[in-house]
Amino acid sequence: MYENISVNLSDGIAVLTINRPKQLNALNKRTIEEAHAALREMESDNEVAVVILTGAENKAFVAGADIKEFADFTIAQGGALAKNGQDLLFTLVEHYPKPVIAAVNGFALGGGLELAMSAHIRIASANAKMGLPEVSLGVIPGYGGTQRLAQLVGKGKANELIFTAGMISADEAFRCGLVNAVVEQDALMEAAMRMASKILRNSPMAIRAAIRAVNAGYTSGVNGYEVEIEEFAKCFGTEEFKEGTNAFIEKRKANFRK
Ligand code: CAA
Repeated sequence: MYENISVNLSDGIAVLTINRPKQLNALNKRTIEEAHAALREMESDNEVAVVILTGAENKAFVAGADIKEFADFTIAQGGALAKNGQDLLFTLVEHYPKPVIAAVNGFALGGGLELAMSAHIRIASANAKMGLPEVSLGVIPGYGGTQRLAQLVGKGKANELIFTAGMISADEAFRCGLVNAVVEQDALMEAAMRMASKILRNSPMAIRAAIRAVNAGYTSGVNGYEVEIEEFAKCFGTEEFKEGTNAFIEKRKANFRK
């Protein structure tokens, strides 16, 4: 049984909720381990096609790594915190073979924004506030924030957000490309579900291949164009490719989930 997260599955869509609202859903060790375990289990669960990540209640998505847990850490412990967190959760989410949508329902700060940025797609509620405030604590983002924020919004804007430790509104996050869409808070889960349902109609095999190809372009030492060619070619050997192309020719809807 999980203590700090919950998972609800319906119609192929799993909602993984970070559930420590009294601590604004801050990510302590246990929460990261539980989210890791749940994601690993859902990876091989054929009932799960899309994952939505969100935070419990309406104030925070995730207000960061748990500051109280690491406040007295040594250099070695700090290194281990970042490495374990990245390995267990943030890298896992980025390379997850099923689409992961972050439904950002409030504060997404530090590790919280880093978690949202690891997801493949972000939808924010209008009241959400986002930022990487780590330098105000005398530390820097450690769960991939220095890399993924620059990838999403460009280096100059990322530097501004990191150096000022400031928070931006959901609208500003939309304008700078940090989130895909902004909706009113009470419409957030519906919007995330709608996006998930659109994805569900398509070939899971092709989506896995697309995730690998897109990520390849952000992996040092890997040529994204070459990975795209390989992944494109592999599709031709699959049943889902046959189903998708036959359905087009036969003027019917493809059914990838037989
Ligand atoms: N870690 C631990 N506890 C946290 C937390 C965090 N990141 N964020 C909030 N909380 C706790 C508060 O300590 C408080 O707990 P108590 O009632 O036990 O004191 C509770 O959640 C409610 O928070 P506030 O009273 O502070 O609520 P507020 O409305 O006054 O402020 C806030 C909201 C602006 C989000 C504020 O809580 C805040 O600034 N939080 C910290 C944000 C932050 O700095 N995040 C980065 C963390 S470092 C990091 O993530 C490192 C990394 O990259 C690996």
